Amino acid sequence: MTKIKELEELRSKTQIAIDAQKNLVERNQMGQYSTPFELAKEVAEFVLNQWKTHNPNTPIRFLEPAIGTGAFYSAFRSQALDNDISNATGIELDKSFFEASRDLWKDERIKIINEDSTKVQLNDFYNLLITNPPYVRHHHIDKEEKDRLKKKVKELLGYDVSGLSGLYCYFIWLSHQWLLEGAWATWLIPSEYLDVNYGRLVKKYLKEKVRLKFIHKYDPNNCQFTDALVSSCVLIYEKSVPDESDVVRFSFGGSIEKPDFVKYVRINELNPDDKWSWNLMDRPEKTKTVQFSDFFDVKRGIATGNNDFFVLERKQIEEMGLPIQCFTPLLPPPRGLNSDVIECDIDGFPDVCPQPFVIDTSLTEEELADKYPQLSSYLDKGKQEGILEGYIVRNRKVWYKQENRKPAPFLCTYMGRESSGGNPFRFIWNKSNAIVTNGYLMLYPKGELKALLKSNPNLYSSVYDALCLIADENFSDEGREYGGGLKKIEPKELGKVSADALLSILPSYEVVEQQLIF
Ligand SMILES: C[S@@+](CC[C@H](N)C(=O)[O-])C[C@H]1O[C@@H](n2cnc3c(N)ncnc32)[C@H](O)[C@@H]1O
Repeated sequence: MTKIKELEELRSKTQIAIDAQKNLVERNQMGQYSTPFELAKEVAEFVLNQWKTHNPNTPIRFLEPAIGTGAFYSAFRSQALDNDISNATGIELDKSFFEASRDLWKDERIKIINEDSTKVQLNDFYNLLITNPPYVRHHHIDKEEKDRLKKKVKELLGYDVSGLSGLYCYFIWLSHQWLLEGAWATWLIPSEYLDVNYGRLVKKYLKEKVRLKFIHKYDPNNCQFTDALVSSCVLIYEKSVPDESDVVRFSFGGSIEKPDFVKYVRINELNPDDKWSWNLMDRPEKTKTVQFSDFFDVKRGIATGNNDFFVLERKQIEEMGLPIQCFTPLLPPPRGLNSDVIECDIDGFPDVCPQPFVIDTSLTEEELADKYPQLSSYLDKGKQEGILEGYIVRNRKVWYKQENRKPAPFLCTYMGRESSGGNPFRFIWNKSNAIVTNGYLMLYPKGELKALLKSNPNLYSSVYDALCLIADENFSDEGREYGGGLKKIEPKELGKVSADALLSILPSYEVVEQQLIF
């Protein structure tokens, strides 16, 4: 058994023992309902995957402002490696939980503090917050304490909040000060803030101060969790400047990874004065309405005919003195990518190491011999070794000129294996001028999406988010299965995958939706 598994066993026993020492009134006043480990794990796994996609290679600075015995920390540690974490802090007001947590996690990098999260001064900042904060209703907060909390929120965010707000609302508002730009915050909280009056300023915060990503509500009729969690929802947002093109995923039932119902809503359609739970109750059937081919031309990456010969690394090209202008930059195969978001340098070359290139020129053999003798002799050597015997190479008009492919901003892996029920295919956001070989499918935006991306490049990020969501939700039945669980997806098959998540990015969304209904 791994160390973290052993610690989790010990933690859950400790939790039961401490709960047994407390009466219900006391637990109610302190909001002490610990998260079942399976639920904490489901949430932590989901958010960590999302976070890693958006923040590749970024060390995690983890914060749990109401740690209890550490259900969320334990769940997070069962997914995150030691090396992924740069620092971690847990805060707990109750002495018995604080001591239990401090002793349990003493060999871990996490620092546990015995403080009130609404008062504590932290000297650190964090990029990942995951918690189940105390559900203390306003009538358990005395007037003096309420005035103090309201004053703090006013100073920090300029909001005049309602005295009816539950303690978890103050946790959300006040945590703003500890989050780094780009940080993700995940809250397991009651869903009532979506509809009641005091929730208006939580919704205003979610609309104006951060980029709201997900709201998932568990189905109360199919709840595998304790009573305290019956109306629970998971709220996930990123601390960065919101964009009016942002799209929020509302989901209901099942798990956050595989909900029963999903609806995508553009942030500018959400009004803090309205009830938001209609997004969860007005449950559209998961029927296919629009598909990939409505938004993208999908093409397979190039087949060079012989990657060993045609694909060279930048270092080899330089060492052999070959002319870089006769090459086109390539991305490494999917398994060689460190990140699914490919940044580029000032010349448009991808930020990948090593940097592969493919021979690709229209110059004739005579012109090459004249201008670039080193490349000419490399090609001659290939001929002597029989490169022209390959079907693809011998059928090309100019045998060293590749198929005509422009760089595509989005890519999908062509094949993969399902890992623990996950999607075998993944999407890549390619910001560079590199093209790809046939281990990928290339997605070229078309029609309205193409025009929108041209006029508002901020939308690329929303499109990529939508693609990642589609990958999680719509792919399970797509592609063809080969031996050993290997799956492949052809351009035509990808073209038929449902792409509703992309629909809500388009201004013509309402029109399209109405057309579908009537
Ligand atoms: C709903 S429980 C959740 C505990 C843990 N996050 C989990 O998921 O199991 C909330 C925890 O917050 C603690 N708490 C209550 N008020 C607090 C405050 N003002 N500052 C820090 N912790 C507090 C409670 O003692 C309790 O352990």
